[in-house]
Amino acid sequence: MSGRRFIVQTMGCQMNVHDSRRLEEVLGGEGWERTDDAALADVVVVNTCSIREKSEHKLMSLLGTLRPWKTQHRDARIVVAGCVAQQEGEALLRRSDLVDVVIGPDNIPELPALLREVAGGAPPLARTVFDMDDPRFLVARPRTAERETSAFVTVMKGCDERCTYCIVPTTRGAERYRPEDEIVAEVAGLAAGGVREVTLLGQTVNSWYDPARQAEVKLRSKVAPSRSEFPGLLRRIAREVPELARLRYTSPHPRHLTPDLIDAHAELGLLPAHLHLPVQSGSDVVLKRMSRRYTAADYLVRVRALQARRPGLTLSTDIIVGFPGETDADFEATLELVRAAGFVQAFCFKYSPRPHTAALRLGDDVDETTKDARLQRLFAVVEAQGRAHLEGLVGDEVEVLVESFDAKTGRYSGRSERNEIVHVEVPVGEDPRGRLVRAEVLEAYKHSLRGRMEGAAPPRPMRRGLPVVAGGAA
Ligand code: 5AD
Ligand code: SF4
Repeated sequence: MSGRRFIVQTMGCQMNVHDSRRLEEVLGGEGWERTDDAALADVVVVNTCSIREKSEHKLMSLLGTLRPWKTQHRDARIVVAGCVAQQEGEALLRRSDLVDVVIGPDNIPELPALLREVAGGAPPLARTVFDMDDPRFLVARPRTAERETSAFVTVMKGCDERCTYCIVPTTRGAERYRPEDEIVAEVAGLAAGGVREVTLLGQTVNSWYDPARQAEVKLRSKVAPSRSEFPGLLRRIAREVPELARLRYTSPHPRHLTPDLIDAHAELGLLPAHLHLPVQSGSDVVLKRMSRRYTAADYLVRVRALQARRPGLTLSTDIIVGFPGETDADFEATLELVRAAGFVQAFCFKYSPRPHTAALRLGDDVDETTKDARLQRLFAVVEAQGRAHLEGLVGDEVEVLVESFDAKTGRYSGRSERNEIVHVEVPVGEDPRGRLVRAEVLEAYKHSLRGRMEGAAPPRPMRRGLPVVAGGAA
């Protein structure tokens, strides 16, 4: 093989961003060199997402743009990784003559060997096998030279929820859980390497339990109350990794937001005062058709209990508009829930039918114009709530984990305890990157804040549980 440089291009979610880093590490471990310039690369890895329709179109057009590069470099190779790779497998090799290797999310460690085979003259290859019997969780390595402040740690993969619109159970397979000791060791290792914020990652991250108990937990009904042991994991990390400044997790499922998890939010100062909790719809009829296993009222009861125990906690969410059969009244119910929950941010999507999903048989009867109009109304409500929230913070003090420096503006940026982006002015000679600092909010922008650094934040408080509110989470 003559070429040794590669680039990974990422589409889609945080899970993919995380997988891209593992792809880079696996190739880096075999002597490959990462480049940021596709023109200089010998191998281009496209890490795809298939959660919505557009992602496949994007892949096809990206492959088209790579054709001149591929024709000019005799040894150039294109790898398609991620969910589209898993979903399409060998079919991708037939659909595009540009693709040399197709590799599923569970097969990342095999990539260097596959590239060697192709370089040795093998025809294009596809490897998309789930590691059901012996799940592998690749360990995240911090890039110390780049002073990285945040990192992701996978705690589970796959999804058994089978929401009727979602392709993830097909592309990521059934749920597999990572042993507790392994997770804690990885978080501790990252913290020792200078990482201050860890985000625990999983498709339904808060359903986690130690795999040693998997057989026992699986015996119980899927609709029974959650058997999650996630709060215990959070407590153990808080206890055993004191260097950590923040512990986030994504994406939780509302049905696993248990009273014990709410308690953990009240107890642990390490958990930020923000939660991204996908709701998808505010209509009970639609939620049922989506197979989400909660009602709008269940959702609200839980988040209110959470906010009562963790005052000031903000919420963001995911919402789908135009799900099959969604009426005007259903959509109004979604708007009502958005107002009642007071989301400060929402990722809103138009429903797109996906292969291998149960909702396919429901058709796609909400027309595009109606979907667009609903999306616009939703954006307007969420945007107004987000702005009002930011404006309400002017004059307050926030705690910022400073992550980056922009030489052009001379400002440092980071995130507050509630996840707002804060641009901070710092005293001359200070470089607060990687530190938690206190800042006074001076101005609210459309999607961020401007503040002035006031000093170091106090050491992480260990909150005591506030009194449980009557009628709290179910
Ligand atoms: N159509 C539109 N949005 C979808 N999502 C998942 N599947 C679909 C689909 N078929 C959205 C959900 C999920 C987010 C990651 O993507 O809101 O939470
Ligand atoms: Fe998809 Fe539902 Fe699983 Fe989330 S919980 S990954 S939306 S099936």
